[in-house]
Amino acid sequence: MNVAQTAVKSDEYRIEEGKRSLIHDPVEGDNTKITLVRARGSYVWDDKGNRYLDCTSQAWSNNLGANDPRVVEAAIAQLREITHARPNFNTKPLLTLTSKLRDIAPGDLHRIGYALHGSLAVEMAMKLALKNRPGAQNIIVLQDAYHGRSITTMAASWPHPDNPFLPLQPRFTRIPHPDPYRPRLGLDPETDVQLCLSLLEDVIDRGVDGGVAAIMMEPIMGNGGHIVLPVSYLKGVREICDRRGILLIWDEIQSCFGRTGKMFASDFYGIVPDIMTFGKGIGGGFPLAGIFASEKLNKFDSGEDALTFGSFPVAMAAAIATIDAIIEDKLCDKAHDLGIFATGRLKEMAKHRKLIGDVRGPGLFVSIELVKDRETKEPARAAAAEVYRRGVDRGVLFGESRYAGLGNLIKVKPPLDCSVEDMGHALDVLDEVLGSIEADGIA
Ligand SMILES: Cc1ncc(COP(=O)(O)O)c(C=O)c1O
Repeated sequence: MNVAQTAVKSDEYRIEEGKRSLIHDPVEGDNTKITLVRARGSYVWDDKGNRYLDCTSQAWSNNLGANDPRVVEAAIAQLREITHARPNFNTKPLLTLTSKLRDIAPGDLHRIGYALHGSLAVEMAMKLALKNRPGAQNIIVLQDAYHGRSITTMAASWPHPDNPFLPLQPRFTRIPHPDPYRPRLGLDPETDVQLCLSLLEDVIDRGVDGGVAAIMMEPIMGNGGHIVLPVSYLKGVREICDRRGILLIWDEIQSCFGRTGKMFASDFYGIVPDIMTFGKGIGGGFPLAGIFASEKLNKFDSGEDALTFGSFPVAMAAAIATIDAIIEDKLCDKAHDLGIFATGRLKEMAKHRKLIGDVRGPGLFVSIELVKDRETKEPARAAAAEVYRRGVDRGVLFGESRYAGLGNLIKVKPPLDCSVEDMGHALDVLDEVLGSIEADGIA
């Protein structure tokens, strides 16, 4: 086809052709996928003019509501100055952001590095751990972990059935972790914690060849089933790492920048890892991720970690404005308060909606687990998929979880500056949708 023919195709043709050609859509021309054209605060609009209340914050990333004017203006101002600089150069936003992050970093996590995507920030964290523990060849991860979709971080996440990428993936040692909602053997949750800590020590002693460089975990497991690890477990792992000279990596890509009601989960739990990743919420909608590392750790040498767009000035300028706005607007406190409102209402709802098996927080890290039966806790996957569909019909986007074998979570995680009225509306819709699904006998 020549260039002239290409130019005359209609917009509609382009959209349909684009849908058919997307390599990530398993369905040819998937028409169930909404095409977004606009976003403001807690709302997004599709190409047909429909408005949706976005309880997904676009993969829990718009901690500050979408297209906040302060962020947009900062990004535009930066665009006018310099858009791209390779990592061999410093830029003003790079240095200013680094200094700001140092101010808010937990403990001594005063070394800061950047990537554009969480998966690459996790890889950076692992590289730094390996560099600082020469000779130790193992990194231990949790069974239901999610650390990304690069070839290495997929391997560090839960096992993928029929994984085609295995030939090129490194092997991680996965350990069982506590799950307060489903403690093994019906143990009380605290005994399950102690069992898992003891299994961890066992694995370090007898389950790996050679030394362990790091234990990597999300403090609150997000995509792997929203499992809120008990604080006694988090403290226990920290203590084991200290005693054995193993580095502790916390992947805070999902829990950072106010989502838990504190700036970081590290602040929420009062536990400081040696390396901590961040991502999602920092960029105010722009792609940015990175790591905080203890100042005790050696830095990277030249050539060990550099990405062409890894310190993208526009994303950095957006991140500076985002952090300022999160602090100025007291969004951590707002997330805490709105989270209490939301989980309180969900617990009330659970009294008459039998599908709700569990209600989880903290802060605006909010979800419910849907079960067929509260005794057996069998996941109600079909009901969860239906909540999403019926929510869309009523103008509310709920988050779902299809991963880690469960697929029965409904997440209610709007931007942290979502109004109480909007949150109330989302929960009214959820209540109505659950009622209609129960009436239709779907579970
Ligand atoms: C805990 C955690 N780590 C890593 C990632 C990967 O981030 P990205 O999709 O930006 O590569 C995610 C994304 O959902 C995440 O939740």
